[in-house]
Amino acid sequence: MSKYSQDVVQILHENQPEYVSGQYIAEQLNISRTSVKKIIDQLKAEGCEINSVNHKGHQLQQLADTWYPGIVEKITAEQGFFQETFVYPTIDSTQLAAKQKLVGNHDAILVLSNEQTKGRGRFNRPWDSAKGKGLWMSAVFRPNVPFSMITTFNLFMALAIRETIQAFSIDDVAVKWPNDIYIGPKKVCGFLTEMSANSDGIEAVICGIGINMNQEASDFPQEIAHRATSIYNHADEKIDRYAFLTLLLENMKTRYIQFLTVPFESIREEYVKHSNIWNRKLKFTENDKQFSGKAISIDKDGFLLVEDEQGEKHRLMSADIDL
Ligand code: BTN
Repeated sequence: MSKYSQDVVQILHENQPEYVSGQYIAEQLNISRTSVKKIIDQLKAEGCEINSVNHKGHQLQQLADTWYPGIVEKITAEQGFFQETFVYPTIDSTQLAAKQKLVGNHDAILVLSNEQTKGRGRFNRPWDSAKGKGLWMSAVFRPNVPFSMITTFNLFMALAIRETIQAFSIDDVAVKWPNDIYIGPKKVCGFLTEMSANSDGIEAVICGIGINMNQEASDFPQEIAHRATSIYNHADEKIDRYAFLTLLLENMKTRYIQFLTVPFESIREEYVKHSNIWNRKLKFTENDKQFSGKAISIDKDGFLLVEDEQGEKHRLMSADIDL
């Protein structure tokens, strides 16, 4: 790939929906018009939809299914929350990368990759992170709060993710406490929250988020196809990954500020309303213990109150739930 292709795509994106002449691009980057033409052809070959018209120039219609670093950085710069943004075409895991990058600084950091080769979910389960199909990202936050508050962080983030997916889905999107987002009976997103701490307190909270955006049903590996879905499966059209990312980051920022400033109590009703675990028999796994029962409520600290089939009550901070 030409080293100027990132710049060309950025110029086209900034000027959308206008046509930009080859001459203008060549002058901006101090390269020849022939080079511009070659780069445009290359961008088209990798999936960008560009209208090229004689004497008018080039008009970007749609970006390819990939993250262009310059465009992502523009989104994060405009949003002004993350001080550092890292974008990869492929990586083992954004979560591993984020943990490496948080050392030696106090920055809020965003790590995105178009593909993960070793994406991991909760309980170290593999997370299918196919190239160009989903949003695989990790966000590093630096909350100056007591340890006890971290249990509710997940719940605020769950709402941020839910409302973003809902904005693109024609069907109802629900939260499955504590870490999943569902559309109907299938999982569309999983996220996990890890913490790094030292003797002074919390150093960082690293939130890894995997969202199935544009998979077709047949794109999922056989072993998860019966329980996984994508937003695209519940939308009128393909998901514009940049519009989605912009809204998600905005919602995460809003919910993060809420997490820092108001108790979970003030969003509890909203959380309960959008949860899909009520009035049904559930199977819980908590550490190595398994039991069936019903979810009764969520308390003010974000713990789930459950009654098992023997009538015994449980107060869970985290668990794996089978619907
Ligand atoms: C789960 O449902 O178990 C949580 C899945 C979290 C997957 C995301 S994808 C981006 C980040 N990098 C990882 O390796 N995992 C998280």
